Amino acid sequence: MASNREIVVYESLELMQQAAAERVAAAIQQAVTARGRCIIALSGGSTPRGFHQRLVAAPLREQIPWEQLYVIWGDDRYVPHDDPESNYRMARETLLDHVPIPAEQILPMPTSADDPAQAAAGYEQQLHLLAGDAEFWIDIAIMGMGPDGHTASLFPEHPGLDAPAGQLVIAIDNSPKPPPRRLTLTIAALNQVGTAFFLVSGADKSEMAKDVLHGPAEPRRRPAQFIQAPRGRLVWLLDAAAGAALS
Ligand code: 6PG
Repeated sequence: MASNREIVVYESLELMQQAAAERVAAAIQQAVTARGRCIIALSGGSTPRGFHQRLVAAPLREQIPWEQLYVIWGDDRYVPHDDPESNYRMARETLLDHVPIPAEQILPMPTSADDPAQAAAGYEQQLHLLAGDAEFWIDIAIMGMGPDGHTASLFPEHPGLDAPAGQLVIAIDNSPKPPPRRLTLTIAALNQVGTAFFLVSGADKSEMAKDVLHGPAEPRRRPAQFIQAPRGRLVWLLDAAAGAALS
């Protein structure tokens, strides 16, 4: 097992979400202490909702330096920001509307122009501006995993896995999971991370979680295996159902 990796299985989804919130709050504080700010990449899916709700509730709400937080997305569906399918909308409703993050520090993926490839290029530019003179770096990435092993919008055997080196953001067409058009950070961008937290819940993920964490390295079949945080830490938090097949 990679020495930068930790795997914890919790008795329930609620306990997992609570632990995730506590760990992420601590990681935000650490990043702000070390670097003066914290860049966090959010994800979609249903699992992060309860995690967000715990971040914005006492006591964590008071402990998090919200004004030093910069929010980006690991991926989003190519739908308007007010669409029920929008990952941005979910984060706004469950997290961002409830805390004092300066508006200019929230960078949703642009998902309404006609050309997703141009939107991806525009977001890439925003990320370089955010990084300034430094190399692009994410302090904390919140990741999910689907039963097919996808993470962010990186799907098994999909052309999105072959993004040109150095590219941070790509447009995805023909996603096997609807909606078909999406924007996603690339594997390379997601691995420029201090701590990647995978939050995984549900029995439909248990076999894939076992294969990703303990099976052979076949990342093209199980893209979650591409996320290794080589210069940081990899933390997998699972509920009992998702972790059932782990030894
Ligand atoms: C998407 C979702 C997806 C999600 C995983 C896990 O855009 O289709 O964001 O990538 O993160 O499928 O979802 P759950 O948390 O609902 O299990």
